[in-house]
Amino acid sequence: MKDQPKATHLTWHEGQVSRDQRYDNLGQRGGTLWMTGLSGSGKSTIAVALEQRLHALGRHAYRLDGDNIRMGLCSNLGFSAEDRSENIRRIGEVSKLFADAGLIVINSFISPYARQRTWVRELHEAAGLPFYEVFIHVPLAVAEARDPKGLYRKARAGEITHFTGIDDPFEAPVDPALELRTDVMSVEQSVDALIALLKKNNHFTA
Ligand SMILES: Nc1ncnc2c1ncn2[C@@H]1O[C@H](COP(=O)(O)OP(=O)(O)OP(=O)(O)O)[C@@H](O)[C@H]1O
Ligand SMILES: [Mg+2]
Repeated sequence: MKDQPKATHLTWHEGQVSRDQRYDNLGQRGGTLWMTGLSGSGKSTIAVALEQRLHALGRHAYRLDGDNIRMGLCSNLGFSAEDRSENIRRIGEVSKLFADAGLIVINSFISPYARQRTWVRELHEAAGLPFYEVFIHVPLAVAEARDPKGLYRKARAGEITHFTGIDDPFEAPVDPALELRTDVMSVEQSVDALIALLKKNNHFTA
């Protein structure tokens, strides 16, 4: 992952409104919920339900989702190791900005490589921003049986290569902030657990 800017002679220009002042106006603290898991594990389904719940609670959240980002910000990237890495780097930087602005960032990316998730965590931690790795966990057989986009069928037929869980690895989180077993938990239960995580970490201040 690239850490250093290509350009030289850069000077950071400080603003006059602090992060805490932004958070005070919003009545919440920003942070990033990073959902990682196999295709079909339920990341996007849970993200959409969580966004709805937070909105109903009067909270400010924003979803960043795999295919949506690949249609815009990352439209020039594919699925090679290098492109996956650049994809996550850009999303990590955007998440950091949104969290700094005060949003609850709800991310749904397979993000199969532990080192890339660690990179995003460290990016947040270096900026003093909360980052929660959320493992959306189902056995591969369950995700494959769901196959909401028909991608596993295509991967098994060899029409898609480098597909996570089939011919590309998924490195499970070792110590996630939360693990949601979507084969035994309802979407509502997963959303409840995510809201509880945010409350426990004092994200809602007014
Ligand atoms: N308890 C559950 N939690 C989440 N999703 C569930 C649950 N039970 C069944 N599902 C179904 O599983 C599927 C999950 O698909 P979803 O698109 O959310 O996965 P994803 O992890 O975002 O996959 P991808 O990485 O391909 O975007 C949906 O069809 C959803 O309705
Ligand atoms: Mg999805």
